[in-house]
Amino acid sequence: MIYQSDALTVTRLEGDIAELHFDLQGESVNKFDQNTVTHLTAALDAIEAEQGLQGLLVTSGKPVFIVGADITEFTGLFGAGADEIKGFTGLNNANFNRLQNLPYPSVVAINGFALGGGFEICLACDFRVMSTVAKVGLPETKLGILPGWGGTVRLPRIIGVDEAVMWIATAGEKRPDAALKAGAVDAVAAPEQLREVALTTLNNAIAGQLDYAARRAQKSSPLPLNDTEAMMTFFTIKQMVAQQAGRNYPAPVKVVDVIEQARGMDLEGALEVEAAGFAELAVTPVAAALVGVFLSDQLLGKKARGWEKQADKKVEQAAVLGAGIMGGGIAYQSAYKGVPIKMKDINQAGLDLGLREANKLLSKQVDRGRMTPSKMGEVLSSIDPTLTYGGFDNVDIVVEAVVENPKVKHAVLAETEKQIGPDTVLASNTSTISIDFLAEALERPENFCGMHFFNPVHAMPLVEVIRGEKTSDTAVARTVAYANKMGKKAVVVKDCPGFLVNRVLFPYFDGFSKLVRDGADFQAVDKVMERWGWPMGPAYLMDVVGIDTGVHAAEVMAEGFPDRMKLDFKTATEVMFENQRLGQKNGIGFYEYIADKRGKPKKTAVESTYELIAPVAGERTEFSDEDIVARMMLPMATELARCLEEGIVETPAEADLALLYGLGFPPFRGGVFRWMDTVGLEFIAAASEKFAHLGKSYELTDGMKAKLADGTTYY
Ligand SMILES: NC(=O)c1ccc[n+]([C@@H]2O[C@H](COP(=O)([O-])OP(=O)(O)OC[C@H]3O[C@@H](n4cnc5c(N)ncnc54)[C@H](O)[C@@H]3O)[C@@H](O)[C@H]2O)c1
Repeated sequence: MIYQSDALTVTRLEGDIAELHFDLQGESVNKFDQNTVTHLTAALDAIEAEQGLQGLLVTSGKPVFIVGADITEFTGLFGAGADEIKGFTGLNNANFNRLQNLPYPSVVAINGFALGGGFEICLACDFRVMSTVAKVGLPETKLGILPGWGGTVRLPRIIGVDEAVMWIATAGEKRPDAALKAGAVDAVAAPEQLREVALTTLNNAIAGQLDYAARRAQKSSPLPLNDTEAMMTFFTIKQMVAQQAGRNYPAPVKVVDVIEQARGMDLEGALEVEAAGFAELAVTPVAAALVGVFLSDQLLGKKARGWEKQADKKVEQAAVLGAGIMGGGIAYQSAYKGVPIKMKDINQAGLDLGLREANKLLSKQVDRGRMTPSKMGEVLSSIDPTLTYGGFDNVDIVVEAVVENPKVKHAVLAETEKQIGPDTVLASNTSTISIDFLAEALERPENFCGMHFFNPVHAMPLVEVIRGEKTSDTAVARTVAYANKMGKKAVVVKDCPGFLVNRVLFPYFDGFSKLVRDGADFQAVDKVMERWGWPMGPAYLMDVVGIDTGVHAAEVMAEGFPDRMKLDFKTATEVMFENQRLGQKNGIGFYEYIADKRGKPKKTAVESTYELIAPVAGERTEFSDEDIVARMMLPMATELARCLEEGIVETPAEADLALLYGLGFPPFRGGVFRWMDTVGLEFIAAASEKFAHLGKSYELTDGMKAKLADGTTYY
């Protein structure tokens, strides 16, 4: 044994080969946490001191190789300032340089995921052998940063600038075939042959049949581009990357900058440029937000798995009531993810529509080469369209997705309860009706909860699982387990009008209505909110949701929370509704929608909207971008704070992710609580004072006031 620790070991193998073996004790994966970095330094001391070695083999004792840096350490580190951050990158860069400069060849056996720092150590080795089941990549830009341990230096020198920029800017994970084709790895081997192939490669290098010195020279030299080539390459790439990333995500463009700046430098100089770029990005609010989203997502996953463990039984057969927009989508998603589903409607036309929708989605997958026609047939045949309750006594969960009408839902739920087994879970996809109210129709309310999907079901990641007063843990657990199985992100919330997402969305829409009432141009509001990061502005979003749905839901919300959500004026949305302008669904709402060549509805502005809303719109007034954002976002933020304080949602992290996954809230802002932490509650309080005349939804909650007083943040 040359070195031993709880993170990695070094042993001497036959043939004077040292094996550096990563196996972090007490963890399911290997990662470069500070402990591992420290041990790697010490292990390199020991390796360098060991006499007579001829080669180094790098391996992992986990199913993954190394997943990268320990992201839980980032929050503290990034807050500590640029010097501290440079120290962090410097330590492991020194390690990887030492590894690259050992006086004998090195080979890594990549058995599983090698991401971020996990792939950067592979790049520092002379030769890379990859298992057929492994994946490699540099996903740092997803976190708003760039690779900090030589990724931007070694990768372009190994596989070329264009390819390396694409790998890093798009943060993709690469399969063995792609990695081999690009030249990022030297060989691919079946898992059971990986070690042998890696050792053979190493022995060949030791025997002088492979030129490892040339490999090192390539990684330590300037990029082989003359000035003209460089100018053309970087100019084109930068434009492309900037366009793809969008102005709110600076990391991908910074990657190109860093590679360009370092193109004429040797390894040492280039690593310094990279470290400076890394430190610059790491202190931005975007990095804090994206790292926060990553960590919150881990929390969400952990909670969802926790619920799943509590489930008394697996969901093996499901059913959905109603084959409309939502029912059809739920049936497709369930079948696609391997849970057979009965789809019941009251008329054949409804069933045909639901099946056509599923067929369309599956055909798209086949056209794109992501599914074989036979798999498509299999998925389709696991949707069982029916007009009766036959076989309902055998299902594990039923999702009700019939029309949004309390009387109809009461009748349908009561009827269904008589057809299902005593422990079958019944869940409603209602978007507004209280779960406790719906439960009144049931004899076993403990088996009942909400399971609120978002439209379109296959594309929107969020599912709100709503527990009513009488809902049992078992019912919640099985419903979350089903959501997990469907590949969705489940957030468990308590019952209230609008639940979590719609409860905070409607105050935001009210902010829009008040702006238009006070003379704002609805198109200007849309543009400002889109520039702020929303995928669509409020008028456009209302059109997509459906004006009729929006007006109906607004009424429910006003009834539930009259002090904040009952408006004393007629809104522009109501005017649209009165004029049968229902939005995208009938081709015209605030905007007109005309199908483009590919059949996608394309939004166009129409003058008639201004004429129609003139009676309810104030005299045209210019509002600053800041005021528009504040007037739109404050009602959403105060309502979200109320939900947290009332225990509707358990943590700021879950609330923020619910808005990201349910509404498309801009990830680079990390969520509404993250946004408030970033701008500061003093800023929020000042805006609240400025717009106090707009009503209670602009008032800080007691919890917000308390935080303001003691200077604490949500994260
Ligand atoms: N559309 C959305 O954006 C959206 C989003 C989230 C939740 N929801 C909720 O999902 C539910 C369904 O909405 P949708 O947009 O799919 O409606 P939809 O009108 O498209 O479909 C409703 C379907 O239910 C069928 N139906 C009516 N009575 C029935 C009964 N007794 N048994 C079986 N089927 C019956 C109808 O024939 C129709 O096919 C509503 O509660 C709605 O609030 C909708």
